[in-house]
Order: sequence, then structure tokens, then C-alpha cells
Amino acid sequence: MIIRNFNHILHGGDYNPDQWLHTPGTIDRDFELMEKAHCNTFSVGIFSWSQLEVEPDRFEFGWLDDIFERCEKTGKKLFLATPSASKPAWLAQRWPDSCRVDRAGVRDRWGARQNSCFSSPGYRERVRIVNRKLAERYAHHPALGGWHISNEYHGECGCELCRHRFHDFLRKRYGTLENFNQANWSAFWGHAITDWSQVEPFDYSTDATALDWWRFCTEVIVDFFQMEIDAVREFSDAPVTTNLMGLFPTLDYWKFAPLCDFISDDCYPTWLDGDTEREAASVSLRHDMHYTMLGKPFLMMESCPGIPNYARYPKLRRPGEFEREMLLALGHGADGTMYFQWRKGRNNCEKFHGAVVGHDGTDQTLTFRRVASYGEKLERLSGLVGAEKKPVTAVIYDWESNWAFGQCNAAGGNQVKQWEATAINHYRALWNHNIDLAVIDSEQDFSHYKLLVLPMLFLFKPGVLERLRDFVEQGGTLVATYFTGYVDENNNCFSGGNPGGAAGRELFGIWNEDFDGLQPTSRQTIVWNGRRYPVEDYAELLHLEGAESEATYGDDFYAGTPAVTRRKLGKGCVVYLGARTGMEFLNDFYGSLLKEAGVEPVLTGLPDAVRAARRSASDGSDYYFLYNLTGTEQPVNLPATMTDIWNGGEATRCVTLPPNGATVLQFKP
Ligand code: GLA
Ligand code: ZN
Repeated sequence: MIIRNFNHILHGGDYNPDQWLHTPGTIDRDFELMEKAHCNTFSVGIFSWSQLEVEPDRFEFGWLDDIFERCEKTGKKLFLATPSASKPAWLAQRWPDSCRVDRAGVRDRWGARQNSCFSSPGYRERVRIVNRKLAERYAHHPALGGWHISNEYHGECGCELCRHRFHDFLRKRYGTLENFNQANWSAFWGHAITDWSQVEPFDYSTDATALDWWRFCTEVIVDFFQMEIDAVREFSDAPVTTNLMGLFPTLDYWKFAPLCDFISDDCYPTWLDGDTEREAASVSLRHDMHYTMLGKPFLMMESCPGIPNYARYPKLRRPGEFEREMLLALGHGADGTMYFQWRKGRNNCEKFHGAVVGHDGTDQTLTFRRVASYGEKLERLSGLVGAEKKPVTAVIYDWESNWAFGQCNAAGGNQVKQWEATAINHYRALWNHNIDLAVIDSEQDFSHYKLLVLPMLFLFKPGVLERLRDFVEQGGTLVATYFTGYVDENNNCFSGGNPGGAAGRELFGIWNEDFDGLQPTSRQTIVWNGRRYPVEDYAELLHLEGAESEATYGDDFYAGTPAVTRRKLGKGCVVYLGARTGMEFLNDFYGSLLKEAGVEPVLTGLPDAVRAARRSASDGSDYYFLYNLTGTEQPVNLPATMTDIWNGGEATRCVTLPPNGATVLQFKP
């Protein structure tokens, strides 16, 4: 259970009553509408620092006390935010070093949000003070559900304090300058340093330092997050979280997970035409990752009940799409779906961002009615709270590989590199076969899985190769793609060839001699099981060293050479995909591999346009989620009699999904 003794699927959102203190009646009206919308949980105080501490040490808690009381009376819970995301003007004025310094050495002015220096002593101290005040006051309030620490942490700062911390970080990591210089291959362009203070944080000409900088930025934020938690923990033991941003590129979220009592995420798909299947797979990937991070249900903390105003095409959701989006989260392991935000503010950059209550202030809008109807149905799902997922297939998503590959001056710009998109596409092909999936990083335990997929695991952290070998020898099936195992943890290429130097070549039974960067005009194909599939962007030249060729290239001077290889090892096998293909190949390839590896879909016999997810409750029942990815109705025959719990229906062997719709079935064996 995310909130102790609160056996409900959480439903609600960011609530900013402090924007409405001068508009009489609004908060009363909010609480009436919250009932109508079947909402039970809200996040408050996220951007309220200057409304709570109007000047240094002058606190005004009255308005927040009132919200707590109202929630207590009506049985609602609050995630109380620590307000560090947005510092008051007085703070920046009195402690200017709370503002960040950019790459050019220019200190930012006060304004905007989520832009403070995490090393600034003044800022840290004031955050500690306000967090302690909040914790002291509300720790034992019955409406407190948990702590929403800060908001969407991110960013980097180049001030003197941060530079010093970076140098300390490097000193700790490398011990000696000699080690640092070697790791940095520093004879290249004469970049040897003779003192730590010479290291430039933003010098992206040394690949190891660039990688270390991103590691450092994560470490600094995680340290700040811990400091915020510690302040709250002096008074309160309620669960803590911080809202993550899915696959946000510059933070290694695996490092945040251990500090959280539950994971929460902000998720804003847009469902543009023609993109439904990819978008649904990509949000499922992040949900699966968030379930996997702590091996238990997470919370979709923010989503948009309308459409985010910053979307390129702020398309209104078509009937069905909203519920399907919410049920995608629940089916993949969420125990709650919440919105940004409850009520639209009247000004500033989010005034047109979809919210449950619009500027009309009524319950008459399409958005409100959808939310209310969804909220009502959610009350049928209390049996889902805490239900588990038991995936036997995992996709590795390791930020350091993204950083290392992104950093390398190789093989085209990010348009071509497409590290994240590659991970999504491999996940997507597996997801298209309706299997339960985990998304892990390379430091997690592999032994729970039968099948492990490494999309472009470019960087091998220490020990990973040995653990992969172990996984295979014990009977696992391992799939790696092009650009796997090119560099070690310092972004240094492996000596002795790819993948992964001598030990990696032995594991995969191949030598990857080089990669061919393909132009849009290049023609290359893979010939697999008698069919030809197009290849784009990358094709590697592979040599067999113990593996067998499972597919060959169809064109150009390396036609007939291996494109996909397979080696049996111990009780398992290792497959290497040497080229980037489209979805058609990936769908076919994983379809056959899943059968071979003995991975079963959660439901069989579904129409092509329907996907399924499953969660298993402690009372022995399974919840099956069905998603219609098309704008046409889809009848689905079920392999057993199930109850259409979502629509309050009877036990049945057949359900019909509305266009773009979804449903939840309960199966009690
Ligand atoms: C983020 C923030 C919210 C809000 C939404 C708008 O997720 O956390 O405060 O700005 O974006 O989409
Ligand atoms: Zn700084």
C-alpha cells in the first residue's frame, strides 16, 4: 500500500489552493467537486514556499492547516511537498549563490523554478529549515499520506562550490592524478592535468570526464534529496518519494530509487495520429521500470487529464484514450493515477494546461466528466492495491550507456544514434507479444529472468560481463544488439576487439570488427528465416568465433556474412543482432525467440490490435488489463470465464473493447 492503511487506488492530483486564497468560495467548490470526481489524494505545497514562509522565518500555515482539516474531514490524503523546487525571491536576494552559474560562468537571476544550486549553503540551510517546520507541524496529521520531496529535480551548476565538489568527486573516484589522466587518455590533445582544480566540468572533449560529470550531477542531486529526507525524518516517518520524469536523459534514476519509499513518475503522452502503438509501448516501458525499481507498485504522480499546453499538437483526447492511458499505468504496476493539476490557474505558462477543473469552474466539461467516471470505476478496483507483477523477461535500460554513446564522436548525431528509441523499440517488440516485462539496469540481479535484452548496452560496468555469462550458463537467453560492449566504465574502448574485449568475444562467440554507418540511400538487408528485412543506420561486420550465424546480410560487399549470431553456452544461449532494423524484424524475431525461451504471453489469442497486461493479487485473483490500440471496436474472446470488473459486468467469455478503450477483467481460479 502506498499510503499506510489506505486501501484505495490513489486518484487526485496536484492541488494549488494557495493560488485561490483571494477568490472566495473556490476552495469550498473544490471540495464539492473532488467528491464528484471521486478523488481521494492530492499533492500540495509544491510551489508554496513563498506562500508558507513569506519572509525569512515568518511562517504562515493557516491556509495549509485549512486544507489538511478539510481533507481529514472528507477522508482524503495529502502528499505534502517540500517546497525546494521554487525558492522565494527573498531567498535569492539574501543568498545570491542559491542561483546557478551557467557554462559561461554567468550567475542566473532569480525567477522560474527548479533552478537552484544544490551546493549553496544558504539554499540548503533554508530548505532544511522549511522542511523541518512542515514536518514538525504535519507529521502526525491524519490526512498526511506521505512526502512529495521537491519537484522534478534536475539540472547542473558550474559555480565555484559545484566545481570544487566535482573535483572532490574525481579525487575520490580516481585516487591519484595519474589514474585520472590514464582514464582520460589525456595524452590526446595534451590534456594531462597536474592539479584537480584544472578539470573543467563542461569540457566535453574528454569522454571520461564528460561521463563523470553526468554521474556527478546525479550524485549531487541524490545527496540533496537525502538531505531533504533527513530534515523531514526528524519528525515524520511517513513514506517519501520524489516525482521522476520517466526517461529524463541526464539523470540516472536508478540511483534515486533506493531513497524512495515508493516510486512516483510524471507521464505525459500525447496520442498523436499513427503513433498509438509506439506511444503505448513507450509509456508501458517507463511504468514497468518504475515497478521494477523497488519491485512494488508505484504511483503515476502526474498525468494530464486534458492535454499539456506545451505539446506540439495539443489534441484533445478521443473517447477512450484517457481511460486507456490511466489503465496502462495500473496494468503495468501503478497503484494510483494522479493529475497535474486539479484546477487550471488563471495566468502564467500553464494557464491552458489541461486540468480537472477548467476556468469555467464546473463539472460540465468533457475532461471533468471523464475524470469523474474513471474515478467512480476505480472504486471497483480496491482489490488491485498491492497486486504484483512477475515478469521473466527484462530489458536493460542503463543511463550510463546512453551518456557514453551520446558523448562519443561516432556514427552520426543523436538523430542517428537513437539510443533511447532503440531501447523503446526492443521493449516494444516484446510488449507487442503481450508478455509481462521488467525494465532494469545492468546492476540489478539477473537471476529472476529467463530472457534478458541489452539494447545498445554500449558501456560495460565492472563485473557485468561476468554476471551476464553466469546468467547464460544457468540457462538464460541473452540478446544484445549492435553497439553493445564497446567501452568500459571510463568510456575507454576495450582492447582486444568488440564486443567487450577478449572475455566478451568469448561470451558472444563473435568478433565485431567494425560498424558501417548507413546513409538514407544505402541499401542493406538482413536475411532471416528466408525473409529479407531492411536495415537502417548501422550494420556491423561480424566474424564467427564459436557462435553460429542465424541471419546474414543481404547486400553490398559484405552480403552473406553474419548479421545475427547465436552461441549455446552452458544451459543457455547468447544472441547478437549486428544491425538496426525496423519493427517488422524485431516483432518476428522476438516472437520466435519468446517461444523458444518458454516465455508465455499473459493472455493468448488476442486480436492484433489489442494488448494485455496482468497483475496478481494476494487473494489469488489475477487482474487482466486489455487495451484497444485502434479507433474501431474490438471483440475479444477470453481463454477462460472472467468478470468484467471495470464495467461492473458479469462473468463472461467475451468482451468488446470500445474504440481506443480499455478494460479490466478479474479472474479467480
Ligand atoms: C511537470 C511539473 C508540474 C507541471 C507539469 C506540466 O510535470 O512537475 O509542476 O509543470 O509538468 O505538464
Ligand atoms: Zn553551484
